[in-house]
Amino acid sequence: CGIVGYIGKREAYPIIINGLKRLEYRGYDSAGIALYDGSQIQLCKTKGKVVDLEQRVEKEISIKGSVGIGHTRWATHGVPNDVNSHPHYSNSGDLVIIHNGIIENYASIKKELMNRGYTFTSDTDTEVLVNLIEEVKKTEGVKLGKAVQIALNQVVGAYAIALFDRNKPDEIVVAKLGSPLAIGIGDDEFFVASDASPFIEFTNNAIYLEDEEMAIIRRGREVKIRKIKNDSLVNPYIHELKLNLEQIEKGGYDHFMLKEIYEQPSVIRDTYRGRLLANEGIIKLGGLEEYIPKFINADRIIIVACGTSWHAGLVAEYIFEDWARIPVEVEYASEFRYRNPIITEKDVVIAISQSGETADTLAAIKLAKEKGAFVYGICNVVGSTISRETHSGTYTHAGPEIGVASTKAFTTQITVLTMIALKLAQIKGTISKSNYMMHLRELEQIPNHVEEALKSNDKIKEIAEVFKDASNFLYLGRGYNFPVALEGALKLKEISYIHAEGYPAAEMKHGPIALIDENMPVVVIAINSNHYDKVVSNIQEIKSRKGVIIAVVTKGDTVVREMADYIMEVPNTPETLTPLVTTIPLQLLSYHIAVMLNRNVDQPRNLAKSVTVE
Ligand code: G6P
Repeated sequence: CGIVGYIGKREAYPIIINGLKRLEYRGYDSAGIALYDGSQIQLCKTKGKVVDLEQRVEKEISIKGSVGIGHTRWATHGVPNDVNSHPHYSNSGDLVIIHNGIIENYASIKKELMNRGYTFTSDTDTEVLVNLIEEVKKTEGVKLGKAVQIALNQVVGAYAIALFDRNKPDEIVVAKLGSPLAIGIGDDEFFVASDASPFIEFTNNAIYLEDEEMAIIRRGREVKIRKIKNDSLVNPYIHELKLNLEQIEKGGYDHFMLKEIYEQPSVIRDTYRGRLLANEGIIKLGGLEEYIPKFINADRIIIVACGTSWHAGLVAEYIFEDWARIPVEVEYASEFRYRNPIITEKDVVIAISQSGETADTLAAIKLAKEKGAFVYGICNVVGSTISRETHSGTYTHAGPEIGVASTKAFTTQITVLTMIALKLAQIKGTISKSNYMMHLRELEQIPNHVEEALKSNDKIKEIAEVFKDASNFLYLGRGYNFPVALEGALKLKEISYIHAEGYPAAEMKHGPIALIDENMPVVVIAINSNHYDKVVSNIQEIKSRKGVIIAVVTKGDTVVREMADYIMEVPNTPETLTPLVTTIPLQLLSYHIAVMLNRNVDQPRNLAKSVTVE
């Protein structure tokens, strides 16, 4: 979900509606807005997208206010429909709230409130929260801020909330636990949002609330931040934002996803810039230096992540074990956290997350920290929760990733992981000097290779045209490219809704081979590698069952070219680095198929960019 709020001197509506559009990638099955002009509050909400909301606002809202809040929702409690959309009023109609997160103990609070005569129009936990605040305010005779504080001390769950009171036209109260919340500080005006993108053109100054903090934002006054638990005042740290608006717009491409695919040469470069000095043989990662002994002396490295980030973790497993000779386990964060895992102070946990907000990954980090492990984060969003919760870490410099299906985040994550592995291997002495130097130089060439791989775009589009109506796809790869096969299949599923499975090529004969017939396209990653001959045999197995082969091959390949029905070429690079290039044609293939099928590429159904629920 995403939230936006405004209080100041301008008309709130345009700021909020544009802000919601920028946040839509976070989740988007419904949207709503509430405006206040000092005498009247008007509210409008709807199932669907922000553009649907915009149309309704034209008919339903007649006031212009300089206070307002807005919300895009990804349903957790209650189906996506108009009544369950935010904002929600309290029973008196005085309080209006938006909420991102989950109130876990809402049922018992709801029961208690119903006993006291409260009624509910929606199934949401949010409506329970706003009425709890109202009840506290009434029975304890306290001001809004205090009532919010008392109420939040009674709830269990996660939230970023913003609310205002009809009787307080100059005030918005916000609070955070678990879900992100930023406050933009303008000149006599304030912005509230899940991240800084909604207010980036108005101010460069922002406060990021920490967990269990709340802020009382008053027109023309300084923002007051307090701890929710003990009421103590917090001195806010004002961040200077470096993001610009152009970065979050499409830059001439039809979709954010395509723009982000094409950004990969430059963002991979951004990710190693200043950190990789190939000629000098130096890798310098600020967050890593002082913790190198922890990594080197670790019993094992446990990588936790979800989705595409988990695939980056799998690639890292191969690289770390090969070069640095440290045992690695890669876990889905959601499984790890719930299975009473064995973790000790001798373990190093690496958490990978584009958004830095994924709830399961965050919970896995907390668990690992409790058990005494050292936790290292690899995040893209600067200042995100995971980047703050980890002991140290390295940022990927991919810039904002807006397309829900992750692309440039994946390749920049692998870039960072590769640098870490090389650094550790060099210090441990598990890689030869010449091999180390060679890989540094080759890593520096990756942006050029990606550029080259992108040139196959038109050819890949033709292949997409041929296969767009297939109902199943199989993706196969071995070694470093097994995770790439998984990622290729995930990309296709996510944005085209075609069923696809990724498999280790050799494992195919233990099951998926039964699916192969003349209607089954099989994407095989068959680049130059130690496994080349084995992959060739796998291709033969498919051919003899009439399967259709789309092969990713190294430029200049002749053997697979003869056997495959279609080929997608990538430049030659050392095997360890191949995932950074073989991923590219697979991203483009899913993109074109999705576009041809008229799918909503940037905002595929049911998916959210940042999954802040469990
Ligand atoms: C969601 C997104 C995926 C992403 C996953 C993990 O499912 O749709 O693209 O890979 O979350 O997100 P993270 O931000 O932790 O990398």
